[in-house]
Amino acid sequence: MKTYLIIPAMILALASCQKPAEMKTTDATNQEVFGKMPDGREVKIFTLTNKNGLTARVTEYGAILVSMETPDKAGKTADITHGYDTLEGWLTNTSYLGSTVGRFGNRIKDGKFALDGKVYTLATNNKPGGIPCHLHGGLKGFDKVLWSGKPFGDNGVEFTYVSKDGEEGYPGNLTVKTTYTLNDDNELKWETTATTDAPTIVNIVHHSYWNLSGDPTTSINDHELTLNAPHFLPTDTGLIPTGEIAPVAGTPMDFTNPMIIGERVDADFEALKFGGGYDHCWVLEKGEGVRLAARIKDPESGRVMEVSTDQPAIQFYGGNFLDGSFAGKGGVKYAKRSALCLETEGFPDAPNKPAFPSCVLRPGETYKHVMIHKFSAE
Ligand code: BGC
Repeated sequence: MKTYLIIPAMILALASCQKPAEMKTTDATNQEVFGKMPDGREVKIFTLTNKNGLTARVTEYGAILVSMETPDKAGKTADITHGYDTLEGWLTNTSYLGSTVGRFGNRIKDGKFALDGKVYTLATNNKPGGIPCHLHGGLKGFDKVLWSGKPFGDNGVEFTYVSKDGEEGYPGNLTVKTTYTLNDDNELKWETTATTDAPTIVNIVHHSYWNLSGDPTTSINDHELTLNAPHFLPTDTGLIPTGEIAPVAGTPMDFTNPMIIGERVDADFEALKFGGGYDHCWVLEKGEGVRLAARIKDPESGRVMEVSTDQPAIQFYGGNFLDGSFAGKGGVKYAKRSALCLETEGFPDAPNKPAFPSCVLRPGETYKHVMIHKFSAE
């Protein structure tokens, strides 16, 4: 009896002697050290897998989805997101690759808004058409901060971040929790809640870049997109909504039936000119609770991703500003339209548009945003 106990103990001892000092460790919750922040704080990365061979990796930095591996119709698995191989890469990320974006995702006109009679000024960190605006939370939004991660539920991770009153110009201490869970129905669920101790504005958005082919050197113009959205928000040349809620019918913005993205992206249509392609907010079909918002398919690999949400709108960004200027995973320089984003959200510039659904959060209320990505192949 004793012999049986001693042998495994010896094997364990030997194994631990052979482990190089810098080797990364994986514990039962599949968390590892991803790297260090410039100030020395350690950053963890978590791996979620399911019984069908899907793998999602998420990190405490920016509550980022680092990679998402799914099988194609032949069962071949590939990562279908843009990003970087190392934390150092993500630290240089200025395109919000895979990030959890906040406190207010999308644009705010002139970086200004009034709340309860007081005017707040935010950074103007973006300049489409030469017109400065506030984008995705400012100079150091939620995508560029270290969240605190821990295992969540059966197969998930919970990230917490407390955004201080005055951070990036926003009022109120905001406590944010973002969870990622992967289930055996091939659903990756991103869910965010937030509470505040003073009135503020909130629009927290998941910002992954997808290329369902698994080959980031190809164009997403070949993908087929369906949006459950009868209206879109026309913008000015600075990509700020004019306030109009326009029907998509009869325009190149109509994705209510499956359409190949590239077929109309260069059409002679004002909104497409302003956006340099698709970069607009669509108003989703009204409904209760979490419902299907978008479906994207890569005809060649057969991969399909369905996006469901409880939010009123979705930004479809066709990767027009990617220009090959930085190298991502495997050293690939991401070219224009080599990935697309489908960002469920509240309406852009809602803080300045009283007719848009309110994005004001007050003490005692809880902001909630559910986004489910369901993967399949056909
Ligand atoms: C916006 C684009 C912007 C991009 C930055 C998207 O959500 O719609 O206009 O360039 O984010 O990564």
